[in-house]
Amino acid sequence: MGYFRDCIEQMEGYTPGFQPKAADVVKLNTNENPYPPSPRVLEVLRRFPPERLRRYPEPLGDTFRAAASSVLGISPENILCTNGGDELLAVCTRAFCDARRPMAYPQPTYSLYPVLAKIQGCPAVEIPREGDWLGELACINAPLTIVCNPNAPTSDFVPVEQLDRLASALSGVLLIDEAYADFAPDNALRLVAKHDNVIVLRSFSKGYSLAGLRFGFGVAQPAMIEGLIKVKDSYNVDAVAAAAAAAITDQPYFRANVERIVQERTRLTESLRLLGFEVPDSQTNFVLARCLNGSAEGIYKALVEKNIYVRYFPLPGLYDKLRITVGTPEQNKILVTALREILSQKGKPV
Ligand SMILES: Cc1ncc(COP(=O)(O)O)c(C=O)c1O
Repeated sequence: MGYFRDCIEQMEGYTPGFQPKAADVVKLNTNENPYPPSPRVLEVLRRFPPERLRRYPEPLGDTFRAAASSVLGISPENILCTNGGDELLAVCTRAFCDARRPMAYPQPTYSLYPVLAKIQGCPAVEIPREGDWLGELACINAPLTIVCNPNAPTSDFVPVEQLDRLASALSGVLLIDEAYADFAPDNALRLVAKHDNVIVLRSFSKGYSLAGLRFGFGVAQPAMIEGLIKVKDSYNVDAVAAAAAAAITDQPYFRANVERIVQERTRLTESLRLLGFEVPDSQTNFVLARCLNGSAEGIYKALVEKNIYVRYFPLPGLYDKLRITVGTPEQNKILVTALREILSQKGKPV
């Protein structure tokens, strides 16, 4: 066509997980929360004044910043509200990277990072996530280093002390993507007070059951937040998304919801192992199951035929694996029964 910058012309876009229209499917492909959001959020939405839609929203999401700062024990100036965690990743790429300023990250990880690098036209340095990969990232010392922790799609967790050491070693920014931190044993928020180069990403799509609201936030020192504000859209978070403030103040509901998923995660992991899958312990709301008895792609397709959606990534290191979101006990039972059927169909290669 010739209209686009070369890097856009040549790139593949990000492939979002399939969003089936039918409601009667078992949807375990995009790591949504299977339970509804807090009743407090629903109440805010029910009473939402139309006048607030007529006017522009708060440019910095001050209602959320105030609510989150008291829950997290940080100051509102430490918080940047974003249109999902994804927008924070895009803002950071725009803020720190260009043709001479690469980003670096381990691989495999969240498949959006290389896409953002391509859009920005910056080099992406990919370090295999094995051996001393944190040491290698320190040696690369990129202007922007991204570490997803717990990592997607591998579901494992790196001790925060190792990220602390990485932050000290880097002269660029360390963006710690904690989209799945709600389900993990620890998190890196405390590193923000210690390091002026650390940004922690949080999402409301997972533990808070609000993927449809599109809300996330970043935590960093105030000078870093000030810089990122220059890069974001003026009104990046809409008025309705301020309902996220109601979600974060309902910590008892949030914790109970996360606990249900963590318990179900153990049951799902055990069931999949009994079926012959290799499943590492997960610190997220999904599991990564390696298919030892049949092809992952074949099993993925056979599940789709039964209206069950999981995620298959045709990418290096992932060809033999399926990423499966932890659903309700009922959904997981349907999945496990279907897998048992698929795997026992003798003579039918999957
Ligand atoms: C690793 C990781 N980071 C960030 C995000 C962005 O989340 P959202 O934009 O829905 O807040 C996701 C979403 O799935 C993710 O998996």
